[in-house]
Amino acid sequence: MIKQVIKLPSLPLGVPTDINKYFFNRTKELINFHSFINTLNQDVANQILVTGQRGVGKSFLLKKLIEEVPSNILTAYLDISNIYGIQKGNLTEEKIMYAMFEEMNKGIEKESDILSKVYNIGIEIKNKINNKDFDFKDAGSILGISIPNVTDNYEKLSKFVMEYPQKVVESSEGKIKGFVIIIDEFQFIGELKNPEAFFWMFRSFTQEQDNVCYIFTGSTSSTSDIVKIINGNDGAFGNRMIRLNIDPFTKKKLKGILKQKYPKSHLQWRDLKDFTVVLEDIPHI
Ligand SMILES: Nc1ncnc2c1ncn2[C@@H]1O[C@H](COP(=O)(O)OP(=O)(O)OP(=O)(O)O)[C@@H](O)[C@H]1O
Ligand SMILES: [Mg+2]
Repeated sequence: MIKQVIKLPSLPLGVPTDINKYFFNRTKELINFHSFINTLNQDVANQILVTGQRGVGKSFLLKKLIEEVPSNILTAYLDISNIYGIQKGNLTEEKIMYAMFEEMNKGIEKESDILSKVYNIGIEIKNKINNKDFDFKDAGSILGISIPNVTDNYEKLSKFVMEYPQKVVESSEGKIKGFVIIIDEFQFIGELKNPEAFFWMFRSFTQEQDNVCYIFTGSTSSTSDIVKIINGNDGAFGNRMIRLNIDPFTKKKLKGILKQKYPKSHLQWRDLKDFTVVLEDIPHI
């Protein structure tokens, strides 16, 4: 198949903050996501794995989803590549847990008026971690999280952070029904010394939680080793994650998008028949 590049006016690099100004289509995908998230209202939590070729629009779509999720469902968005970059490649489980905790707190902050107790606990724990104090016993017991009696900081932190979102929901007295946690560029988890153990840890907690939905996504093919580790038959989630593959836009959709976006373009629409991927500054098909 012929692949060509058409050069059109530049779009911002990466995912723009003003998503609605740039976002197109993906209606069906969003409906799918919403239906899998909506089950949180009935105390059923799905775990989701989103794949799709590089640049197809996974991150953009998930950011759009966050905007659309109703306010009784909290959201957190964590990009592992950011931690990987900041840590100059020295990614640790502890750093991921802490970053996830921070992102959850941003979600809680949006509803801090109805979650004031949790919100204050979040601040307290954050300060403790920054002061290298990993004694979470008191804060944990307020939320009903029992912190293990061990010296290992990671063990304490992971127990707290992994139980946190479910306890946030439970402490809201029905006002909050779920927590959606998006983990983007999750393939970087493969850089840990023992990624298998890390995913199994997630699996062991999610099994007990009815209101926390994790969405893992990243720049990885659906057949990659990291996908096998997380969701292969012998992997942590044993093929039980919901798989959503994001396909490139069809030519028909692309035509509509380009027409709307670049009304003054001199592109000949019949030229599009040979395109499978449009690279560079425009949405990818
Ligand atoms: N639905 C869309 N509407 C408009 N533009 C889009 C859409 N989806 C993607 N794009 C454009 O394509 C770019 C790449 O999308 P995005 O970063 O979401 O891809 P990705 O699948 O997450 O890529 P990677 O695998 O590299 O992380 C976006 O910055 C945006 O410019
Ligand atoms: Mg992405």
